[in-house]
Amino acid sequence: TSEVARMKNLNLIYMGEFEVEPWYFSPYPAELTNSPVLYICEFCLAYFGSKKQIERHRQRYCDLLYPPGNEIYRKDEISFFEIDGRRQKSYCRNLCLLSKCFLDHKTLYYDVDPFLFYILTKNDDHGCHIIGYFSKEKESAENYNLACILTLPQYQRHGYGRLLMQFSYELSKIEGRLGSPEKPLSDLGLLGYRAFWSEAIVDLLVDYHGEISIEELSKMTSFTTQDILHALSSLDGIRYYKGRHAIVLSEAVLEAYKRSKAKKRRSIDPKYLKWAPPI
Ligand code: COA
Ligand code: NA
Repeated sequence: TSEVARMKNLNLIYMGEFEVEPWYFSPYPAELTNSPVLYICEFCLAYFGSKKQIERHRQRYCDLLYPPGNEIYRKDEISFFEIDGRRQKSYCRNLCLLSKCFLDHKTLYYDVDPFLFYILTKNDDHGCHIIGYFSKEKESAENYNLACILTLPQYQRHGYGRLLMQFSYELSKIEGRLGSPEKPLSDLGLLGYRAFWSEAIVDLLVDYHGEISIEELSKMTSFTTQDILHALSSLDGIRYYKGRHAIVLSEAVLEAYKRSKAKKRRSIDPKYLKWAPPI
């Protein structure tokens, strides 16, 4: 659309305790994008042109301390909230406007009804602070389990993207389906998914003895066979050997895997997920 080509229109966003620089155009009302900075309520995601306005908003009008939905996961200081686009239109539209600042091609802002939004928060005494989210179509003809994914820039490269991706597949496992993210992925989306799929697959394979097929890997992970093959070929992990295809993990791949494991990043513990597929 024409919006894709439009120039970045915001210089700076203030949100909670963070200052964030937008990457791309986002269709906030023009009268607000004239001001050098935008103030966003970190809880309801409403936006304002001045500090005075946002302070008044927090003092008089907004007492939210967490996203306006059902908390379906909580472990340690991490939660996930499920939000129905039909029931929380303004929150979800605000979220889409915010996330467009960091996405160059997705252009969903107003028709949020067909989507569920899964908000990842980090919790402290002052509330549940949004770190990122993903959206998911209530009905996906293509069996996509994720439409759009974002880690807010101030939290990127700390493993939260992996956490969001893992969560999307935990939902697919409960649904008893395979899932895959909506295409096309952005460059960062592709890098993130490749890293996530590869690590999850290597994680299964290092502890596995005996033969395993791509279909079995797919059943265990809810990843599609196509995504598994994509990940394995990014690891140069598929060889034709004695007349058959075999999965081969090189020393370099195993070393990289160990290094990544040593970072001891958070992962989703399915025991703490309280969720049944919406009917
Ligand atoms: N350069 C190179 N590799 C990167 C990268 C970058 N800028 N960002 C992520 N990766 C790869 C790395 O392998 C990384 O692992 P590492 O940090 O251990 O090296 C891996 O992806 C996952 O990183 P993680 O910290 O779990 O992801 P994240 O929280 O930074 O989130 C996205 C990843 C894609 C959600 C995030 O970049 C984002 O929100 N981008 C903007 C929105 C977008 O493009 N969404 C996808 C399209 S819908
Ligand atoms: Na915040």
